[in-house]
Amino acid sequence: MLPLKEKDKPIIQKLLSAGCCARCILRFCCVSVQAAYRQPHQDTLKELQAFISNTEDTKSQDSTAAESAEGNNKSHDAAASEPSDDPPSKKAKLEPRVTEALSEEDAAAVLKLKDEESRVCVVCLGILQELCGTTQAVKIAEAVKAEKYEFDTLVLSVSLPAQLCVREHSCWLHVKKELREKSLAVDKDDVIQVKEAFKWIMQGQVAKELGGVAVVTRSSFEVGVEFTHPDTDADCHFLATTCSDCFKPTKNKQSVFTRMAVVKALEKISDTKFLKHYPCPPAHPTSSCISQDIQCLHVSVFVAGRYNKFCRSLPQTPWVIDGERRMESSVEELIAAAILSSFRASGFNFSSSGREDVDVRTLGNGRPFAMELLNPHRSRLNKVEMKQLQETINKSSDKIRVRDLQIVTREAMGRMKEGEEEKTKSYTALIWTQKPIQREDISFIDDIKDLTLDQKTPLRVLHRRALAVRQRVIHSMNTRFLDSHHFYLGLKTQAGTYIKEFVHGDFGRTKPNLCQLLNTDTDILELDVESVDVDWPPSIPE
Ligand SMILES: *[C@@H]1O[C@H](CO)[C@@H](O)[C@H](O)[C@H]1NC(C)=O
Ligand SMILES: *[C@@H]1O[C@H](CO)[C@@H](O)[C@H](O)[C@H]1NC(C)=O
Ligand SMILES: *[C@@H]1O[C@H](CO)[C@@H](O)[C@H](O)[C@H]1NC(C)=O
Ligand SMILES: [Zn+2]
Repeated sequence: MLPLKEKDKPIIQKLLSAGCCARCILRFCCVSVQAAYRQPHQDTLKELQAFISNTEDTKSQDSTAAESAEGNNKSHDAAASEPSDDPPSKKAKLEPRVTEALSEEDAAAVLKLKDEESRVCVVCLGILQELCGTTQAVKIAEAVKAEKYEFDTLVLSVSLPAQLCVREHSCWLHVKKELREKSLAVDKDDVIQVKEAFKWIMQGQVAKELGGVAVVTRSSFEVGVEFTHPDTDADCHFLATTCSDCFKPTKNKQSVFTRMAVVKALEKISDTKFLKHYPCPPAHPTSSCISQDIQCLHVSVFVAGRYNKFCRSLPQTPWVIDGERRMESSVEELIAAAILSSFRASGFNFSSSGREDVDVRTLGNGRPFAMELLNPHRSRLNKVEMKQLQETINKSSDKIRVRDLQIVTREAMGRMKEGEEEKTKSYTALIWTQKPIQREDISFIDDIKDLTLDQKTPLRVLHRRALAVRQRVIHSMNTRFLDSHHFYLGLKTQAGTYIKEFVHGDFGRTKPNLCQLLNTDTDILELDVESVDVDWPPSIPE
């Protein structure tokens, strides 16, 4: 039994006449019992018809047995009367059922039912009819299976053509008029949305087709069902003349008539204006919506770790100048290859705690990095699998290694960038001096503590960074004499210090610099990052 009330009868009558499907009628009667939507819509239609013909039986005396003739001109011969003041239509009045005429009446009823069953709903354009049944559930399940996603739960998302809002509004006004006449109050917000009804019907069916997986309201795995209805796209167009502000072209949308814009325009338009431009109830569509390909999307998974770079000719990210690739690989690509295939992700987004120049190695415990894996088909790896993945990366190239590889949360990723400026980094630089040096000439450097530098934006990065003077601190240094023109300089600095510029002075743009300290031209021949002192991600014991 449908949870309907006496006061719903005129609404049901009116919507049946207008060409609404049974489930849309339930929506406009604000029926929020999910099971009512799940039963076959043909059965619901029969129940609705029985429900209103019951009115007729009991109230045939005061009923005028008239059809609604309000603008809508389709063959509706619902076996019921509408107690209203509307003029009777030209169509035959339907007499209350009489037992003698049973067989003839039944035949007519069957015909009528067939007709109404196959008619595309004026409001949902078929979405709550044939487009939400077993066929659709199978289609969704097949799409999910074909992509071999691993997931525990899934959420269904539904994208509807924008004109459905226009049709819904038109139908609402149609109902509202009736309600006003009957002095009944219904809030538009209580009308069940097409999307909601669709989900109520489909969730269980999809779950069943997928062998009992939980279809829930929030999940990291989203399966998108999209409907379009090109035939009625023009339904929205009149709104552009009533609210031009609502329809601004946007970069990545093909049409200005987005659902959001249409909803906004409908909020602004007066009922009178709407009714002047758009039929109420909506005109009959000749076809159902088209169900587009199912789109599956898993939320990003984030993987973090630390990397070593042992090569002096490897950029951190692909090096492209004027559309042309300069180096055959990059740190991020070497790391990403195995990770992408392990998680079967469709792309990635790499970030790290600072970066080294193409000719700089990163030694020690390595540099923290994190990767966002886009649309991963797999989202979990156990400890052993993670270790195997790490090994695969380690073995894939001599140029890089990774450690502490782990799955992290999006929020935790922020920890890597947090307070980056305050963190320290340690380096070893191979220094060349123009003047010959002795061991004693450089030993004083070991005693320098917390030397503050003023660094103008280096010439070599000026093309991509604003000109500024930045203060950076070298916390400590140590020297290792090599020969009369070479020594190793160890530095512990504030993150973001330009080491090369400190050594050669960058034409006096970094002050003080090593040339000034040693009173000779100096240059940097090699640079290694020894440690990046960021305590994230947590280290993983071997
Ligand atoms: C309804 O349709 C019939 C023909 O099917 C036509 O004669 C009549 O004028 C139409 N009425 C309205 C109100 O459009
Ligand atoms: C990559 O990350 C950056 C910064 O976190 C973000 O702005 C960008 O949208 C991301 N790109 C993708 C494709 O997710
Ligand atoms: C990968 O290389 C790093 C750096 O040498 C090392 O710490 C880590 O244990 C290696 N991991 C595996 C699984 O080989
Ligand atoms: Zn409908």
